[in-house]
Amino acid sequence: MSKLLRLNVEKLVYGGYGFAKLDGKTVFVRFASPREIVDAEVIKEKKDFLEAVVRKVVLSSPARREPPCPYYGECGGCQIQHITYEEQVRAKREILLETLKRIGKLGDVNYEGELPSKKEFNYRVRVQFKVQDQRIGFYRWDRKEVVDINECLLVHEKVNTLIPLFREAIRAVSDLQEIHVQYSPTRDEAILKFVSITHTDESLLKEFLEDLFPDWVVGIGNYGKLANTLVKRYKVGREHVFMDVGKWKFRVSNDSFFQVNYTLWEDFVGEVLEKSGTYRKGADLHCGVGFFTIPLSERGNFIEGADANPSAVKDAEYNARINNRENVIFTEATAYKYLKRHVGELFDLIVLDPPRSGLLKEEIELLLKNKPERIVYISCNPTTFARDLRILTRGGYRLSSVKLVDNFPQTYHIESVALLEVGD
Ligand SMILES: C[S@@+](CC[C@H](N)C(=O)[O-])C[C@H]1O[C@@H](n2cnc3c(N)ncnc32)[C@H](O)[C@@H]1O
Repeated sequence: MSKLLRLNVEKLVYGGYGFAKLDGKTVFVRFASPREIVDAEVIKEKKDFLEAVVRKVVLSSPARREPPCPYYGECGGCQIQHITYEEQVRAKREILLETLKRIGKLGDVNYEGELPSKKEFNYRVRVQFKVQDQRIGFYRWDRKEVVDINECLLVHEKVNTLIPLFREAIRAVSDLQEIHVQYSPTRDEAILKFVSITHTDESLLKEFLEDLFPDWVVGIGNYGKLANTLVKRYKVGREHVFMDVGKWKFRVSNDSFFQVNYTLWEDFVGEVLEKSGTYRKGADLHCGVGFFTIPLSERGNFIEGADANPSAVKDAEYNARINNRENVIFTEATAYKYLKRHVGELFDLIVLDPPRSGLLKEEIELLLKNKPERIVYISCNPTTFARDLRILTRGGYRLSSVKLVDNFPQTYHIESVALLEVGD
């Protein structure tokens, strides 16, 4: 172990690190809590900052707690489990507002508070387990080595019951790299993805589906991985599960996205509906399977959902039918293509829910040309969110309100919803 540094940790920053200063230099400290003194070992030295890891807590923060998960500290899935949930939410608020100020130049924000997760643990219904040398779990926090786990406290209890069965599958499929689970807590059914280097024998996956897994596992797809993209080879059993969010039903295929924290589904939709208000013509440019679009269709004359993923669009079209919505249509298009095609058309509402990378500059330019009366921006990355809000507010929008939706307890991820309206 190299020399330990005594650090005064001021606060948490994005990424789940503690923030400290040493001789004017910033130190990002893993496994630290806000307002505590620690002895930490430097693990990375850069020109502008150091990265360190706590080896000893000298003066503990009242927010520090014993992490309930036995793998915490090794497994990289969680970053802030050693901090009470109340403090996690408070720290996320501080980070969000600070980021909006620093990057977005938005100092005086109408912050509406937080929607905390209804469950601190066992809230996740979608999970991607990594597989390596007969181990199953997630990468270590410091390297791409799988920590072998028997359960994950973040995932739904039902998903954890599959882990011993996954071990049997791993023994039979020697080149398995990942197992993904999509579980429906409202229908008690799950679909799986088996990601392997080579084609897995189809009769083997059929055998797993029929004999190894319980009846509520309804389908398995075999996939290969090309860079970071999954390529489907075939499927056995069903391709999808159904999820219920209040009165709405959603078919979700193995290749479509669905919100991971089921305890907040209804409230999250409610939040987006409230911010959206009523409208004549709306568009939802990252619509997925219609999670927001379909409930939104009840509040306006006409809405169109667009998504770059063809599987999500197929599901969304199906979902419009099973929910008897006739004033909503779906299109396979990137947000850029959609906006380009509709330049000059009048929208009074546009909903955005981009991936972590946020919006493209060209997408924002087209949005500013189109100038819908209201934009509801849902973001899972405060850094790109603040960057995009800065351009939108300089382009003629006012940031009317922001709310934090804590979809990801125990992790550093921050989800938020903002309403932007035309005007200063
Ligand atoms: C965070 S998910 C949100 C989906 C949906 N709003 C929901 O809540 O279920 C982001 C979605 O954006 C889609 N997507 C990614 N890049 C896109 C792009 N350039 N244009 C349109 N959709 C995109 C993905 O396929 C995914 O469905």
